[in-house]
Amino acid sequence: MDIRTFDTPEAVSLAVAARVAEALGARSRVVLGLPTGRTPTGAYAELRRLHRAGVASFARAMTFNLDEFAGVPPSHPGSFRTFMEAHLFSGIDLPAPHIHFLDGAAGDLDAECERYEAAIAAAGGIDLQLLGIGSNGHIGFNEPAEALVARTHRVRLAESTRRDNAALFGGDASRVPHEALSMGMGTILKAAEIVLIATGARKARCVERMVNGPVSTQLPASFLQLHRRVELFVDAAAASRLPGGGAAGEEPRSGSGGSKDPPLRDGP
Ligand code: GLP
Repeated sequence: MDIRTFDTPEAVSLAVAARVAEALGARSRVVLGLPTGRTPTGAYAELRRLHRAGVASFARAMTFNLDEFAGVPPSHPGSFRTFMEAHLFSGIDLPAPHIHFLDGAAGDLDAECERYEAAIAAAGGIDLQLLGIGSNGHIGFNEPAEALVARTHRVRLAESTRRDNAALFGGDASRVPHEALSMGMGTILKAAEIVLIATGARKARCVERMVNGPVSTQLPASFLQLHRRVELFVDAAAASRLPGGGAAGEEPRSGSGGSKDPPLRDGP
């Protein structure tokens, strides 16, 4: 993994947006994989600004979001589709037909997952996949488990993940759906390039385990160690448990190896 450490979350956001803008400019047609969560919102705001400034155009891009809550229609205020509209899509020139999303309200959720896999393949695969990381080490909604699913699938959400997403449902974790649809680990690892963003001290432990721990289904993000082209954009707080801990600088570092700590698990 190439690790790029910045002093602040704001600096991370600017660097990630510049990375995406570079990808948009480098080829005529780019397929982006996109995450939700608080972490990428600064980068999305900067991409909207770059678009307004005439520096970044999404006119020929296509997007596939990682995941969506089950039982939640796209228009629901708590849906990830609504989140993306507010934070990114409404402020850029991405044509609506180029936006791809899992439909959490589909009648047959398994068929919906298959439809999504086929749509990604039909688009030629994902060129650049952006990722956040859950506080329990999940990516997308691939939760820590005895086994992970490779393809887009239905998933039961960990209680910690439901609490982390409460803000989308009026701050009430009990209203967060118990199930979601998510790209699988295999779907994510098929992307040509991956950029993972992590900021804040709350992510320091799972960042350390992702970079230096064993590859384990109990920390799904650790599977990124198996991918050739992963860039990790972190702030000093999220990098604080890495060797050299949190010293800002854009020098790519590599991480691998075996930590003796037990795998992260959900709280009670
Ligand atoms: C949700 C999303 C993940 C995201 C995670 C982290 O669970 N499904 O894709 O990475 O939240 O959220 P935050 O960035 O708010 O910490």
